[in-house]
Order: sequence, then structure tokens, then C-alpha cells
Amino acid sequence: MIREQQQPASIIKSGTHTIKCYDELGENIDLTTVHSFGEEWKAFHQFEDEEIRKIGDTYFDIVSKDMVGADKIAADFGCGTGRWSKYFHTKVGSVAAIDPSEAVLAAGELLSGIENIHLYKASIDNLPFSDNYFDFGFSLGVLHHIPDTQKAMNACVQKIKPGGHFLVYLYYNLDNRGLLYKTLFSFSNLIRRVVSRMPDTLKRITCNIMAVIFYMPFVLFSRVLKVLGVSKKMRSRVPLHSYENTSFYIIRNDALDRFGTPLEQRFSRHQIQQMMEIAGLNNIIFSEQAPYWHAVGQKK
Ligand SMILES: C[S@@+](CC[C@H](N)C(=O)[O-])C[C@H]1O[C@@H](n2cnc3c(N)ncnc32)[C@H](O)[C@@H]1O
Repeated sequence: MIREQQQPASIIKSGTHTIKCYDELGENIDLTTVHSFGEEWKAFHQFEDEEIRKIGDTYFDIVSKDMVGADKIAADFGCGTGRWSKYFHTKVGSVAAIDPSEAVLAAGELLSGIENIHLYKASIDNLPFSDNYFDFGFSLGVLHHIPDTQKAMNACVQKIKPGGHFLVYLYYNLDNRGLLYKTLFSFSNLIRRVVSRMPDTLKRITCNIMAVIFYMPFVLFSRVLKVLGVSKKMRSRVPLHSYENTSFYIIRNDALDRFGTPLEQRFSRHQIQQMMEIAGLNNIIFSEQAPYWHAVGQKK
């Protein structure tokens, strides 16, 4: 069971889930970005279990057995469709999956029938739980979409018990990449600034086209190299190599995420380490594998 500290303003139903809604979102939130994600997750919310497992393994590779267990309560801060809650729920007693966007409705469907996941429509800036409540928290691809990322990370860690753990994935600023990557990124970032301002339908169509013309040439090149027996180390130099084994559905979803989101920020590994320390974490471990950067720390 998960206990909240505040009464919800309303309750909505989706799938087998009852979603508790908290209307007070706080100030540290970008409402245009949240709306954009609501639209994104309405379009993309049907994930195969096998794909969730495969991609989930890459995010949770640094989570060890001692951090989880049936007696532990976890929080998924910025759950979107709840796909990582779905990946993680068997490893703990229960999960609070939290998101301020309409994505929670899609999450209700994706997580239908899973009784140990509880859904909350709420913002990280106004979490309805006591401080030091959760044993484990994760926030994957979320905090860089919030205006003050450090403040948002502090708010998540505040809800973790001393000795508990927090796993975070934040967009990297290509600090481990060469000039080609950085040039391609600057170019794609210019496109994002234009595409993210488009009306929802036009944005979705444009991002589908981007998936075909921007992502697929690199992905197919990496796949051909694999067939030719080129080593993984060499292939990892191809931009977007991490999508080599990913379905076109996920690539289209990520293209919409990448080009359609108004607010995104990027951080170096060093900056993320500092942010985690400021938030009150130590024993910080970074994964050396993509997606960059994801790291786990223990609350002091
Ligand atoms: C890129 S999506 C990631 C969703 C999910 N973690 C995943 O990887 O599938 C970012 C999510 O952050 C949520 N978000 C944005 N601002 C937020 C805030 N202030 N509090 C909580 N979630 C927020 C969005 O609604 C969106 O669903």
C-alpha cells in the first residue's frame, strides 16, 4: 500500500486503475512541455513487453539486488505511459507512478490489471507524499524537461528514505562524443526549435518524417555493419547506433520526443554528479553504457 499525505482534488479511472489527481502543480513546471507529452503518449502507448524488458534492462543495469525487494516502496517520478513502472513493479512491493500530463490515462491502460502500481496525476513540484517515504525512486528522461532541474531532483530525493536509492537519466551534452556528433546535434536542435512550436497533428506528422529521413539511415547503416560482422565498439561510433535493435514504433516515438518537446536541457557527467551530490546522494554509480547519462545514488 502507498499512503499519501494530501487528499486528491479528484479521481479519474483508466483501465483497472483509479488515478488520484492533484491540481496544484507548483511553479517548477513547463506547462507547454507537459501538454506536448500528454499528446505524445496519447499517440504512443502500446509497448510490447519484450521491448520494455530489453530497453528497461539498459536503464536499470546499475540497480543491484540490495536496492530492491518485496518489502520496498518505489516511486516513478514522471512516469509517462508507465512503461518503466511496468518493467520495475515485480522487483518491489509497490510503485507510485506519477505524472502531471494526460499520459496517466495511457498509463492506466498499459498498467491495467497490475495491482501493485498506483497512479497519481501530480507534479514533482507538489508531490503528495511525506518526506523520506520511498525506498527507491527513479526518474528517467524527465528532469531535463523541468525548468529548474536541480530543484526538481532535490524534490524527488527529499521523498527518498536515508539509505534509499535514486536512479536518474538525464540527457547528456555529448561530453563523451566527437565533433561529428556535436555538429549533428546542433543541427537537430535547430530543427527541434521549429518543430516543437508546431500544432500537435503537424508536429506528429513531421516527426514521423524525421524518423524516416533522420533516424533510419543511421539505424540501417548500423544494422548492415552488424550483419557484416563489424564489432560493437566500431558500430557504437555510428550516430543513433543505440537504436540498432529498436522497433520503428519506438524510433517514431523517440523522434517525437526528440524534436517535439519545447523544453530540454543537457548536462555533462560532471554536472550530473554535482547535482546528485547537492540533492543529498552519495555512493554515486554511473553506467558506462547508453543511454547517457544514467546514474544511481544513495541518500545520505
Ligand atoms: C520523456 S517523458 C518520459 C516518461 C517516462 N519516464 C519514460 O521514459 O517513458 C517525460 C515525462 O515527464 C513528465 N513531466 C514533465 N514535467 C514534469 C513535472 N514537473 N513533474 C512530473 N513529471 C513531469 C512529462 O509529462 C512526461 O510524461
